[in-house]
Amino acid sequence: MKDRILERLQRGGYVSGEELGRALGISRTAVWKHISRLKREGYRIHSIPSRGYCLASTPDRLFPQEIKAGLQTHTLGQEIIYFKEISSTQEAAKSFAERGNPEGTIIISEIQLGGKGRIGREWSSPAGGIYFSIILRPDIRPTEASRFPLTTGLAVARAIEAMTDFHPQLKWPNDVIVNDRKVCGILTDLSAEMDRLNWIVIGPGLNVNTTRDSFPREVGETATSLFIEGGRQVSRVMLLQGILYELESLYEQYQATGFEPIRERWKARSNTLGAQVEITFGAERKSGRAVDIDPDGALILQKDDGSTERIVAGDVSLRNVKRQSGAG
Ligand code: BTN
Repeated sequence: MKDRILERLQRGGYVSGEELGRALGISRTAVWKHISRLKREGYRIHSIPSRGYCLASTPDRLFPQEIKAGLQTHTLGQEIIYFKEISSTQEAAKSFAERGNPEGTIIISEIQLGGKGRIGREWSSPAGGIYFSIILRPDIRPTEASRFPLTTGLAVARAIEAMTDFHPQLKWPNDVIVNDRKVCGILTDLSAEMDRLNWIVIGPGLNVNTTRDSFPREVGETATSLFIEGGRQVSRVMLLQGILYELESLYEQYQATGFEPIRERWKARSNTLGAQVEITFGAERKSGRAVDIDPDGALILQKDDGSTERIVAGDVSLRNVKRQSGAG
């Protein structure tokens, strides 16, 4: 009911308690109680006895009702599970996926207390970021799943570009880079049988309005936020709506025409291809030139002896870039 009142107020102008009550089939006192709840959530609502209620401003929160208003997707984000704080949206999403939540469900939190990064790392998740995990159930072979984090990185880069003056680059496997520093990392988990994928959970973590002093010191060198780089706040709700829209478009394209057009667009934004790189995976180190991304999203490394190797996992350092992006 509260959401329906909000929906009406979001259309703009004043609306009387009597009109709201009539439209929703509740008393004016009940309307007033819902308005009070919205105010407690941070909505500023003016009330003038002769005219009624008017929405003056919206809190900077990733509330489902805010995300859904104006969301241009059919599936992604149609079900949103919201937390003020959580250990990890990725862990929660995996349980929801196991329990059968539908494709497109997103789990989102304002902060994470135990955010997870790739290769068992921690992901610092202070207020001001966007931390979410999305459940997908594509009808694909499990081996195709490696294409999805790359596709998500491309969607994030395109959404950032649509809202800011940045032209984000992509660093293999799936970091989004602004001004040579990392603004977004993506974690992917899946459940599969030999020939059937049950679900994929993709978890992007974006540094949006994060301030410099809220990053732990060790990641401050390599990570940045859109706020730090651009000097102004970015609407997290609009950015998330943009990411969901871009991701759904690419996902539909993937299902219609396959990965090839996405791979080409990923390559065009890459800061990795053509660069001398060092790849670490556990204690293993490999170096050479990154020459291509193969049709499954693996990195093709040309080693110093001229031979090539297909790399499916690891951390890439760009040798000739002063600031490299690592965990954010
Ligand atoms: C990386 O190491 O680059 C990947 C970081 C992914 C962080 C996101 S934040 C939302 C989701 N929940 C998590 O615990 N991790 C991912």
